[in-house]
Amino acid sequence: ALGLKTKLLAKRIDCYDRIDSTNEEAKRKALAGAPDGSLFVAEEQTGGKGRLGRSWTSPAGQGLWFTVLLRSSLLPSQAANITLLAGLAVCRAIQRNTGCAAMIKWPNDIVIESKKVCGILTEMAAEMDRIEYMAVGIGVNVNNENFPEELSVKATSLRLESGSFIRRVPLLQEILFELETVLKDFPLHTESLLREYKSRCVSLNRRVGFIRENRKMVGVAEDISPSGELIVRCDDGTKFPISSGEVTVQGI
Ligand code: BTN
Repeated sequence: ALGLKTKLLAKRIDCYDRIDSTNEEAKRKALAGAPDGSLFVAEEQTGGKGRLGRSWTSPAGQGLWFTVLLRSSLLPSQAANITLLAGLAVCRAIQRNTGCAAMIKWPNDIVIESKKVCGILTEMAAEMDRIEYMAVGIGVNVNNENFPEELSVKATSLRLESGSFIRRVPLLQEILFELETVLKDFPLHTESLLREYKSRCVSLNRRVGFIRENRKMVGVAEDISPSGELIVRCDDGTKFPISSGEVTVQGI
């Protein structure tokens, strides 16, 4: 019904007018046996969740609020890369559908002219040596014309950036198609995927602050490691690999 271009993703689609959070729903349905690639999409979220315990504003009809459930033989060591690749997929899709120059703020905020247009929250259930499932939650501000006061300096929408109304379904189709493409190319073509990621990453060569063992540290974001960590070089020359869940990175 959605005119999908995917072969594996979104064979099962659950749509909601209103739900707490599509990530929460994906996790509930994962426990009930929902298959790999299931898509959960909502017109409105009443408890949209962001990274680091923040909330995500998800007003009715203005954006794309959805979660893709992945549960095909994933290794915990690959999780960080999958999180980055989801960002790359969204970036490609936005660029193709709107012409906007979308960039990535590590790990996977999508920004246009340094304002955030999309956020991604990846949650997973892992056992010792394998991931039981990964819920990749994607929120895109599509046609929002204004934001709550506290977000207005940092947030934007595709409509505000492109100057025109953007149809949500074609954009969703494109994002799912690109997500399937990067997942198909992973892990075999990780090197070229990371090269493309880095070329779109605005965090590199910037000064960043982060917290390690309760201490505030600063350094320059130098590189992305093969396993998806941000490599930060402090002023004394020591390098720290930072993983997305581990620390708060400020200033990027
Ligand atoms: C962030 O940038 O902090 C991540 C935001 C992720 C928002 C999406 S909207 C769909 C899915 N459901 C949620 O509750 N959160 C994600």
